[in-house]
Amino acid sequence: MRRGSILQLVGLGILFGGAATLVAVLIPWLPPVASKQRDRIDFVFWFTTGIAIAVFALVAAVITYSVLKFRVRPDDDSDGPPIHGHTGIEIAWTAVPAILVAAISVVSGVVLVQNDHAGKNHMDVNVTARQFAWTFTYPDDVSSAQLRLPLGRPVKLHFRALDVIHSFWVPEFGQKQDAVPGQDTSLVITPNKLGTYPVICTELCGLGHALMRTSAIVMKPAAFAAWVREQKNAANGPPGDAGKAAFASNGCASCHTLKAAGATGTAGPDLDKLPAYAKQAGKPLEDFVRESIVDPNAYVQPGFPKNLMPSFATLPKTQVDALVAYLAGGPK
Ligand code: CUA
Repeated sequence: MRRGSILQLVGLGILFGGAATLVAVLIPWLPPVASKQRDRIDFVFWFTTGIAIAVFALVAAVITYSVLKFRVRPDDDSDGPPIHGHTGIEIAWTAVPAILVAAISVVSGVVLVQNDHAGKNHMDVNVTARQFAWTFTYPDDVSSAQLRLPLGRPVKLHFRALDVIHSFWVPEFGQKQDAVPGQDTSLVITPNKLGTYPVICTELCGLGHALMRTSAIVMKPAAFAAWVREQKNAANGPPGDAGKAAFASNGCASCHTLKAAGATGTAGPDLDKLPAYAKQAGKPLEDFVRESIVDPNAYVQPGFPKNLMPSFATLPKTQVDALVAYLAGGPK
């Protein structure tokens, strides 16, 4: 190969590699960083992207060079020369990708092991995933429909799926984790930036998959401690407060409207109209509310989709009782 050709190829490679690098670096593709683990995930991302840019530059340079240099004349109808194997090139194009893929696996493996390390001072939070809601349970039985985390403290989330496979993801925290029925899975997060971030289910899990969202709220440690105390007091307080707390902690507000709770969801029936709905269903109000919580598909209000409301049959009886009292008790 002539020296001039090599220089031209290298020039094309720098051109394409440079253009791809600018696209990668100048456009903000990734959400803000809000956890320690996310930095490591980003490292894997950029490591892989760097390799992809190098491969792209090489391929694009060779193709462009070939198209420009070996183009046939308009009157040339002859076949190209026959080509036989080239052992050296074949070894190279097998070995180089194998090495690159192995490097990505090793880097990813090291990052996942590091991200799994929770340390001694971590807090455990149980995460229940069901069609189509998340529930987060803290020590002392405090539970919430939002994930609240104290800034700077490692948290180990333990996942439990009640029905099908779901997947937990907060883009700002980086790593995803599946919740699989019958399996114990976990994810460590060390939040390092105050704020409210979306929690997204990233595994198609049924009709309400797109609704299976909530928020992760990173708070100052003192504010977090105050919130835990407040929740404990509400759960042990009068029945109305316990019902209100259960309504909030089970994510009812994401689908239902209830003035008393400041809830404005519209995916499910308006709970301020429960007495009218009970009459329509031909059932006593209290029985109707209880049935709708523990066996929601027994009667579905006309106009709303079947199989959308998750069953809360697994809730502790005290919470179900509190909810029934809260929803059926007050003036409507
Ligand atoms: Cu749960 Cu998608």
